[in-house]
Amino acid sequence: MQNNLRVVTLDGPAGVGKTTLAKRVAQELSIAYLDTGAMFRIFGWKFGKSAQNMSEKELEDHIAQYTFSLSGIGFDSVLSVNGAPVGDEIRTEEVAALASSVAKLPAVRNALKRVQREISTQTSLVAEGRDMGSVVFPTAKYKFFLDATAEERGARRFNQLQEMGKEADLDRIIEQIKERDLQDRTRTIAPLVAAKDAHIIDTTHLDIDGVFNSIMNFFD
Ligand code: C5P
Repeated sequence: MQNNLRVVTLDGPAGVGKTTLAKRVAQELSIAYLDTGAMFRIFGWKFGKSAQNMSEKELEDHIAQYTFSLSGIGFDSVLSVNGAPVGDEIRTEEVAALASSVAKLPAVRNALKRVQREISTQTSLVAEGRDMGSVVFPTAKYKFFLDATAEERGARRFNQLQEMGKEADLDRIIEQIKERDLQDRTRTIAPLVAAKDAHIIDTTHLDIDGVFNSIMNFFD
């Protein structure tokens, strides 16, 4: 990696507010924002449950048909797949669950790790995900891990959906968050875990501004 490029990692469980914060931090630092969850969602959406029955080779052949690129800075960052910006079709709980299940597969993880590292050789970025600080960018200088109880994360998502005028069931949302936590924290490869040298921020009792300020305090 070129020395003048920097990588900030921001990891944590589903619904902790990573996306909002990662975009805002990227904007403040005038660097790109990389949503690595979207990459896993793309494969979850494209391959579905059948991915679990594919051989390593088959999966690699499927994966080879997709190229990712990142352009823009901060809020205007755009992740594209095969030249087209990733759209809202991947932003459903069904696709999230599929993403979480393909995220266990070594072929998927290895391919995306390579792509994520490759992107970081072209631009400075804030990388949001589950294993950015622990596995993909172990030497990043700035690493953050956000956490909050599943109940708090569920309540935040519930409020977001209500604000958008969408129907929501709080108990079901908390249940889905707990299921995804369990999958993400207990998988064998690259489980969701804070890197040893990450700054851990418990956001349960903080609002977005509070978390943003505590992150920005770490920068020179
Ligand atoms: O962050 P997001 O909710 O979009 O991620 C969807 C799923 O993709 C996660 O639940 C997780 O299983 C997987 N993921 C991952 N590693 C990453 C980013 C996401 O395993 N770096």
